[in-house]
Amino acid sequence: IKNIRKSMNTIVRGTQWGDEGKGKIVDLLAMESDAVVRFQGGNNAGHTIVVDGRTYKLHLIPSGILYPGKICVLGNGLVIDPEALIWEIEEIKKYGHSVENLYISELAHVIMPYHKSMDALEEKIKGGKKIGTTLRGIGPCYTDKVSRTGIRVGELLDKSVLEERLSEIIPLKEKIFSAFGEKWEFDLEYIVKKYVEYGQILKPHITDTSLLLNKLISEKKSLLLEGAQGTFLGIDHGTYPFVTSSSTVSGNACCGSGIGPRKIDKVIGVAKAYTTRVGSGEFPAELENEIGQKLRDNGHEYGTTTGRPRRCGWLDLVMIKTAIMLNSFDEIVITKLDVLSGINPIKICVAYERD
Ligand code: IMP
Repeated sequence: IKNIRKSMNTIVRGTQWGDEGKGKIVDLLAMESDAVVRFQGGNNAGHTIVVDGRTYKLHLIPSGILYPGKICVLGNGLVIDPEALIWEIEEIKKYGHSVENLYISELAHVIMPYHKSMDALEEKIKGGKKIGTTLRGIGPCYTDKVSRTGIRVGELLDKSVLEERLSEIIPLKEKIFSAFGEKWEFDLEYIVKKYVEYGQILKPHITDTSLLLNKLISEKKSLLLEGAQGTFLGIDHGTYPFVTSSSTVSGNACCGSGIGPRKIDKVIGVAKAYTTRVGSGEFPAELENEIGQKLRDNGHEYGTTTGRPRRCGWLDLVMIKTAIMLNSFDEIVITKLDVLSGINPIKICVAYERD
C-alpha cells in the first residue's frame, strides 16, 4: 500500500464468488485515494466496517465515506434502492460522518417496489431450482434496464416524467404478475409520491458522475474502483444461471463508471485463502463436512446482507487462474489465511476431474 503512487486509478475485484474480504482492502486503499467508486450491483453487496468500536454495515455507499473529505461515487452501472440508500445515509450521519461528498449517477437505475416483488415471485416459482438471490430486486431491475422499461435516478427529480413513465410501466407489471397467477396492484399515485420524495432527499447528491470522475482524473486525483460480488457471480463469466445480474469482471469498471479503459493503472484481485459461496450453484471444492463447518465458524462465514450461512470449501486455483485471465490482475491479495489455523492438512484444488 505504501508503494501506491498518487494519481493511480485502481480497480479492486473479487476472484471467487464474493465475500473475499474486499471491504478490508478497499478500506486500506481508500486512505491513499481521492475518490472511491462503486460501478455495478446494488444493495445485494455488503461489508461490515468497525470504526472506533462502532460497526457499520454498508451495502451501497463505499466505505470511503467514513474518511473525511473522500469523494464517494455510486456510478451509472448500479441499481439503487433509494429507500435503502437513504437509510444508509441517515445511519452515517447519525454517527457524525458527513455525506457531503457522496455523488450518485443520474443514469443509475432505480429499484422499484415491483422489482422486489418480482424477485421473490421468480424465486418462488423456480422452487428447488431457485438462484437463492438476496431478494433485493437486483435481477428484475437490471432486466428492466435492458428491456428499456427501467427508471433512472435522474427521473426521480421530475414528477411529471416519473408519473408518465410509471403510468405506462405499472399496468404492464400488473399484467405480468397476473400472468403468473398473482394479483398484484401497485398504487401509481403512492409510488410516484414516495419516489419523488426520495428524489428530493437525494437531489443534492445526484449528478453526472462520469463527468465528475473524468474531471478528477484530469486533476491527477486517484480513483479506487470498488467491485461488488466476485468474478464467478458475474452474468457474463460466472457460473450461470447461479449468478447475479451485473458483469463482475474488471472490464465493467469502465462501463459502470463512465471512464475510458486507458485511465486504469492497476487491477487488484482479492482471494480468500479458501472458498465460500452464498446461494445455489456448482462448487467443486465444497466441503460438506466438519472442516467446512470449521471454516464457517472460524471465518464467521455468514452473509452480511442476508445472514445466510455461507457454503465453504478449499481454495480453488482453477477458479483463481481463470479470474486472473478474465481480469488481468497486477496483484492478488490473499485474505483470511488465519482461518486455516489448526487445519492439517490444508488442501488446494488444482484441477477438476470430469465425470
Ligand atoms: P442477487 O444478486 O440478489 O440477484 O443474487 C444472485 C446470486 O448472487 C445469489 O446466489 C446471491 O447469494 C449472490 N450474491 C449477490 N450479492 C452477493 C455478495 O455481495 N456476496 C456473495 N454473494 C452474493
